Amino acid sequence: MKRGFFVASFGYTNMCGIIGYTGMGNALPKITKGLSVLEYRGYDSVGLAARIGEEIATVKCRGRIGALEEKLKMQITAESHTAIGHTRWATHGGPSDINAHPHRAGRVVLVHNGIIENDGELKRELTAAGRTFLSETDTEVAAALLDVCYDEQNDPVAAIRAATARMRGSYAFGILFEDRADEVFAVRAGSPLILAKGADGYYLASDMTALLPFTSEYACLEEGEIAHLCASGVTVYAAEGKTHTPVWLHTDMTPEAAQKGGFAHFMQKEIEEQPHAIRQSLSPRTASGLPDFSADGITPDFWRAVGSVQIVACGSAMHAGLLGVRLFEELAGVPTTCHVASEYRYHPPVAREDTLVILISQSGETADTLAALRDAKRKKLSTLAIVNAVETSIAREAERRIYTYAGPEIAVATTKGYCTQLSVLYLIAAAMAHAKGMIGEQEARALVNTLVEDAPAAVEGMLAKKEMLRSLAELVAQREHVFFIGRGSDCALAEEGALKLKEISYIHAEAYAAGELKHGTISLIEEGTPVVALSTEQELYDKTESNVREVCSRGARVILLCREDAPVSASAEKTVRLPITSHAATLFAALAALQLLAYEAAVLRGTDIDRPRNLAKSVTVE
Ligand code: F6R
Repeated sequence: MKRGFFVASFGYTNMCGIIGYTGMGNALPKITKGLSVLEYRGYDSVGLAARIGEEIATVKCRGRIGALEEKLKMQITAESHTAIGHTRWATHGGPSDINAHPHRAGRVVLVHNGIIENDGELKRELTAAGRTFLSETDTEVAAALLDVCYDEQNDPVAAIRAATARMRGSYAFGILFEDRADEVFAVRAGSPLILAKGADGYYLASDMTALLPFTSEYACLEEGEIAHLCASGVTVYAAEGKTHTPVWLHTDMTPEAAQKGGFAHFMQKEIEEQPHAIRQSLSPRTASGLPDFSADGITPDFWRAVGSVQIVACGSAMHAGLLGVRLFEELAGVPTTCHVASEYRYHPPVAREDTLVILISQSGETADTLAALRDAKRKKLSTLAIVNAVETSIAREAERRIYTYAGPEIAVATTKGYCTQLSVLYLIAAAMAHAKGMIGEQEARALVNTLVEDAPAAVEGMLAKKEMLRSLAELVAQREHVFFIGRGSDCALAEEGALKLKEISYIHAEAYAAGELKHGTISLIEEGTPVVALSTEQELYDKTESNVREVCSRGARVILLCREDAPVSASAEKTVRLPITSHAATLFAALAALQLLAYEAAVLRGTDIDRPRNLAKSVTVE
C-alpha cells in the first residue's frame, strides 16, 4: 500500500483539469462529479464530450459546472458509457464557450492540459493544408494535427505518436476517436495523468482527487506513454513501443480528505489540519527519538557528506526554503543558499561536488522547479526533492525524495503544505547536524521532541486564539496596503505572511527586513497603515521594537507578534503572544497566526478564498 496521496499538480497558473471514463456505468454523472472535485484548481470554463450511439456529443460553456449541467440537461438525454471532461483555465484565448474544451477536428475529440508551444507554426501548416479553426486555442491545433495523423495512419496509437512527435511544450490529452466506440485514449508529457480502475470501468484524470469518489485503485501514466482504455481493461504503450497493463496500486486517501468537512473553506480546514499534518510528516522519521530518514533511503553518511546546499523552489515553498537556510547554517553549519526556481538557470549558483540541491514543491509538478531539477541533474549534482503529492514529476525525477504527508491541499493558497515543508526542513537540519557531529545525541533528541511535540501544540494553541486574530484582521481588512517586518528568521516568515495576505485578500502587502524599511519604503507609511511586526527571536526583540516605534511615529498601526517573555511594547497597538517552549514552538505559532490573519482578512473582504482570482493550484508552465 502506498502512503500519501496524489494531487497531481498544485501551485499556480494553467491548472486545467481532465477526467475520462469508459465502462458499464453511466458516464455523465461520473464526469460531472469528477469535474466538480477538480473545481479547486481554478477554472473559467468547462466541458465534456460523450459517446452517444455512433456519435460524440460535445457540451461546453464559459463559467461554472452548474451552467454546464443546465446545458447538459437540454442537450444530452441518452445514457453514455464513455466520456471525457475538462475544466479550463484560459491561457491561449480568453474564457469563452468556443475556447472551452473539448475540441473537435474531424474524427478526433480531445481535452488538453498544458501548453503547445509551437502551435503557431503548426496552425500555419494546417491552415495551408486547408484546415480551419473555430477557437483561439493551441488545443484545437493539437486536435487538427492528430486528425491529420489519424487519416494518415488509421491507427489511434500510431496517430497519437506521430502527432505528439510534432508538438513542443507540455501536454496531457484525453482523446475520443469518432470511429472507436467506447474507447478512450490518453497521452502525457510534462503534465500529469493518472489511470484508475473502478468497479464498473476505467478512468483517467489529471488529479487523483477527481477519482476518489469512484475508486482508490490507480496507476500513473509515465512520460510519453499512451493509454488505451476500454470497458474490459487498459493497455499502456510505452514510449519505445512495448505494451503492458497497469500495475494497480492502492491509495489510502479518502474522498472526505478532498472535501470541506463542515468548514467554510478548504483553506480554513487545511489551517486546522496542520498539527496533524506535522505529526504525520515527522512520525515516520522520528520513531527512535532521533532524526532518521532511513525509510526514505537516506542514511547519516549521506547527510555527513553534504558540503553545501542549494534550495530551489517557488512561492511559499521558496519561503520555507529561506527558513531552511537559517536552520541548515545555524544548526548544521552547512553553507546554504535559497533560489527562486524560475531564476535558477539564468544565474546558476556555484556548486561543488558535494553540493546537494534540494527542490521543494507541494504539488511536485511546478514547471520552474522541475526545470531547475533537470538543470541540476544535467550538472550531475545530487538532488533531493521535498514533495507532498506522491509519484509526481519532481518526486520521481529527483535522485532522492522525502514526502511531506500533509494530505491533499485543495485551497490554492498553501498552508499545511508550507507548514510540513518547514517541519521537514527542520528535521533535515537536525539530521545533518547530528550526522556531522555539530550536535550530540541528547541535543538531537531534544530537537526532535520540540518538533514532534511543541510545534504541533503551538499551532493548536494559536488555532484556539482565532477569535482574537479575527478581530485583528479588521484592522488589516479596511486598508489597501500592509507591511510585514521582522529581523533574522522573521524576515523569511514575514515574506510568507505577506504572500498569504495578498493572494487571498487582494490587499497589497510587502515584507521587509525591519531594519531596511527606513532606507526608502518607510515613506509609504502613513496614518493608519497596518504593519505586522514579527519578533520571534529573543535577542532581536529590542531592535525590532525600535523599528515598531519608527513606524508608529509615522502613523502606522502595529500588530506585534512576539514571544511570551518579551517586554510589553510601548508602541504596538495589538500584541499576539507566542509560546516559548522552544524555537520551533515560537516559529510555528507565528506562522499559524499569520495564516489566520490573512484568512480572516479575506473573509471580511468577501473574496473567493479557496480560488483567488488569477490563480490556480498548479503551475505546470514556466
Ligand atoms: C502560495 C502558494 C504558491 C506555491 C508555489 C509553489 O500560497 O501556494 O506560492 O507555494 O506556486 O508550488 P509548489 O509547492 O506546488 O511547487
